[in-house]
Amino acid sequence: MKVEILTTADSSKTLHLPELNEQYHSKHGALTEAEHVYVKAGLQHRLAANAYSGDLNVFELGFGTGMNAALTAALVAGHPQIKCLYTVIEPIILSPEQYDLFREETWALKAPFIALHEARWGEVVAISDNFSLLKLQTTFEVFEAPDLVDLVYYDAFGPRVHPQLWEPWALQKCADLMKPKAVWVSYCAKGSVRRSLQEAGLVVERLAGPPGKREMLRACKT
Ligand SMILES: C[S@@+](CC[C@H](N)C(=O)[O-])C[C@H]1O[C@@H](n2cnc3c(N)ncnc32)[C@H](O)[C@@H]1O
Repeated sequence: MKVEILTTADSSKTLHLPELNEQYHSKHGALTEAEHVYVKAGLQHRLAANAYSGDLNVFELGFGTGMNAALTAALVAGHPQIKCLYTVIEPIILSPEQYDLFREETWALKAPFIALHEARWGEVVAISDNFSLLKLQTTFEVFEAPDLVDLVYYDAFGPRVHPQLWEPWALQKCADLMKPKAVWVSYCAKGSVRRSLQEAGLVVERLAGPPGKREMLRACKT
């Protein structure tokens, strides 16, 4: 599939898929969206609970450019009391030519960007003293979680492009792989998604969204 580079409203770059008219991140600011949804509403919220320490298992749907993984690795570096295992799935691996387009981005410069991309698929790779990465080339439809997780970054393409990944079975699958107190976050605020998360037993909050989106969702397992 053809992939183009797109500069978004905050000057950070993302990938655009012309055949699907879909982006990997918001056109209104790729980095702003990732920091707002996944870092602030997800990671920082989870870490603030009970002065978090110890193992932190993160699951991300869609490695893509590695932006969420890089932002998480950079933040975790300042929390030596945490040991993060970051498991991410991705069926369509970017080529070195494609991910190289992001090498000079501010977020990539602050993180072990190349190590994240060059890490072998299917193996747990230590990226730093307290951040390990497990990249799995698979789809969410067939993914079997090796362990329960503390935090889910649900970063699928939108419901228009991949409606199946926003159906009740997918959100129930997310709930099933979460430990008690685990947090799920996504940029998507669709009513049917919120209701499916509730039906899966999660407590759902509607939060202010990143630029261009009125709301986003955060769901917690009690
Ligand atoms: C919105 S982008 C994620 C962007 C990524 N988190 C980043 O920081 O660049 C959606 C990702 O989901 C991946 N994807 C597509 N179909 C999938 C599926 N069935 N299961 C899991 N991931 C899928 C895409 O290849 C793409 O990388």
